[in-house]
Amino acid sequence: MTIQFPKGFLWGGAIAANQCEGAWNLDGKGMSVADVASYKPHVDVKDYKSQWHTGPEDIKIAMETQDDTYYPKRRGIDFYHHYKEDIALFGEMGFKTLRVSIAWTRIFPNGDEAEPNEAGLAYYEDLFKTLRAHNIEPLVTLSHYEMPLYLVNEFDGWVSREVVDMFVKFAKVCFDRYKDLVKYWLTFNEIDSVFRHPFTTVGVVEEKYENKDKAEEAIYQALHHQFVASALAVKYGHEIIPGSQIGCMVTKTLTYPETCNPEDIYLAQKDNRMNFFYTDVQVLGEYPLFIKQYFKKRNFDIKMIEGDAEILKLHTVDFISFSYYMSMVQSIHAAQREKVGGNLVTGVKNPYLPTSEWGWQVDPVGLRISLIDLYDRYHKPLWIVENGIGAYDKVEEDGSIQDDYRIEYFRNHFIEIAKAIDEGVECMGYTSWACIDIVSASTSQMSKRYGFIYVDADDLGNGTYERKKKKSFDWYKKVIETNGDYL
Ligand code: BG6
Repeated sequence: MTIQFPKGFLWGGAIAANQCEGAWNLDGKGMSVADVASYKPHVDVKDYKSQWHTGPEDIKIAMETQDDTYYPKRRGIDFYHHYKEDIALFGEMGFKTLRVSIAWTRIFPNGDEAEPNEAGLAYYEDLFKTLRAHNIEPLVTLSHYEMPLYLVNEFDGWVSREVVDMFVKFAKVCFDRYKDLVKYWLTFNEIDSVFRHPFTTVGVVEEKYENKDKAEEAIYQALHHQFVASALAVKYGHEIIPGSQIGCMVTKTLTYPETCNPEDIYLAQKDNRMNFFYTDVQVLGEYPLFIKQYFKKRNFDIKMIEGDAEILKLHTVDFISFSYYMSMVQSIHAAQREKVGGNLVTGVKNPYLPTSEWGWQVDPVGLRISLIDLYDRYHKPLWIVENGIGAYDKVEEDGSIQDDYRIEYFRNHFIEIAKAIDEGVECMGYTSWACIDIVSASTSQMSKRYGFIYVDADDLGNGTYERKKKKSFDWYKKVIETNGDYL
């Protein structure tokens, strides 16, 4: 098969404000949930929930210190001061697009202010202008794991309906200010991850709830509010920015059955169906029946006010974007099986797949399957906005970084994207995660590196922060230059 990507395919890379910017308390920025996420290198790689966990005591301790040593997201890679240099490097690689996010706390430090912070607005304006100067189309996520901490402490996060209005106000300010600079938007990063790390996504501190059931009910309530806020943002974006395209963003959590035992197949279907719930709401505009029934069976009282159903129905997304890192396996014998970690829930090991150094199963074919599954269900354009491999990179004596494993990872995934396109899938673009080394979202490690560009900083923030091209830099440049032919 000849590899063919469509003309105008949006090749590029992705980063998120809270993992790269640093400057956590400069120019009027407020504290976000990311600024209290501590460095967790020793948590079992299979224990994803603990990697993310931030309880009431952790918040208290974090708020009492200004130090950033054990709060690496406060430092990031100092993109806040290096963005011009970094964007020039992305331009050199030929990026057509860069996915970035706007830190809500730079615009509204606590979330509930009447007026936005001009310094924050000006920063992103210059960032987007710099991208345009390099012919890089910005793809902007409004909310990527960086809600104001104040809203967690004072409002119980997204459980409170008031947060919908505060977010919509933030979205409107961004659309108004950047309407001539940004055409592609995403509302919430990995909106399905609310149950995997509720604190970071919806500001729910589970310990505050009477029991697990009450916490689960609160998370569903918070999620409902995000769905409504997302739809209202889509509405306003469409009104104010002619030709804008606004997408949802989910984690593609593809699950295979361990065997052809119908019970295994059912379990896998159940997980996959749950993953579709989030896109069903944002693409089809309504809650699927199985979720409504689930609420009933569990006696969950999710408050949906008059008008919500209509908002969801009328303001659906233009495209579906997703992250894809791995696939999972379900089995009726899960309890007896060897487990693997990952950015999904801990699952059964797939004997056919290698794993990364963090135990994430590497499955390029799963990306093709995911693209086909999503396209066949929704018939909407797709955009892979995160995919990549976290690895310990070594700087050789001559200063080079020979990351052949990364090249191999990307090559295998790109081939599968091309195959999916060849099999009748509409795919708009691909942004690798993360195109430059940044702080890991789950463990806050700097040493878990994803980039084509190496950043000289270690887990505790020591280093020159100098940027170096890895071997994969030139390789990706050629891939983009040839629109995939170089594979
Ligand atoms: C995705 C997140 O789930 O996974 C990113 O959207 C994150 O923010 C990425 O960085 C990789 O995860 P990690 O924990 O290796 O940084």
